[in-house]
Amino acid sequence: MTLSHEDIARPHGRDLTDGELVAVATQFAAQPELWAEHVCHDPDRRTYAQLLRDRHLDVWVLCWSRDHDTGFHDHDLSAGAVAVVAGSVREDRLALGRPVEEPLSRIASAGTAFSFTASDIHRVLHAGEGPAVTIHAYSPPLVRMGSYTVEPNGRLLRHTVSYEDELRQLEPAEVTRYGSARWQTTAAAPS
Ligand SMILES: [Fe+2]
Repeated sequence: MTLSHEDIARPHGRDLTDGELVAVATQFAAQPELWAEHVCHDPDRRTYAQLLRDRHLDVWVLCWSRDHDTGFHDHDLSAGAVAVVAGSVREDRLALGRPVEEPLSRIASAGTAFSFTASDIHRVLHAGEGPAVTIHAYSPPLVRMGSYTVEPNGRLLRHTVSYEDELRQLEPAEVTRYGSARWQTTAAAPS
C-alpha cells in the first residue's frame, strides 16, 4: 500500500494544538516514504522540502549538516513541532535576564520531538557529529516569521521575513534590506 499524507491522523477544519503538532510530526517521521526522496545534505546550507500545506497545517522536511543554524526567530502566528528523524539538533530559547550567549538549550536526538508556541523565540542548530534530518509541522501554516539580531549596545531588533526565505543568521546586507543598517553581530550562542 502506498502511504500519503492523507493517512496521517490529525484533526481537520481547525488549527492544531501543540500536542497535535507533535503527533503529526512524529507520524511523518515514522513514514520515510513520505519524505525520504527529499533528503539531501549540502554542507553549505540546510535543504528543505514542503510535504504538506493546507488551510491549517504546514509540514516540512529539513536536512542539517555541521554549523547550520537558523538564528533566533519566531513564527509570527504559527505554533510548531519538530520531530528528529536522524542525528541531533539543539534548540535555544531566547530568555531575558541571562546573557544571549547562554540561552536556554536542549538537545533533541533521533526519535524525540519538541514543540513551541507562536510566542516563543528560538533558534535551532545542528548538533552532534553526523548530518540530521527533521520533520517540522506548523499550525496555522507559516506566512511570515521574525528574525532577530542584537546590536552592539544590546538592542534587540526583529526583522520580518517571508516563510519562503531560508531561516538563517542574517548577513549585514540583508539586515539593511530588512530595515536596519546598524547591525554588526548576530545573536550568537556557543557552538
Ligand atoms: Fe523555528
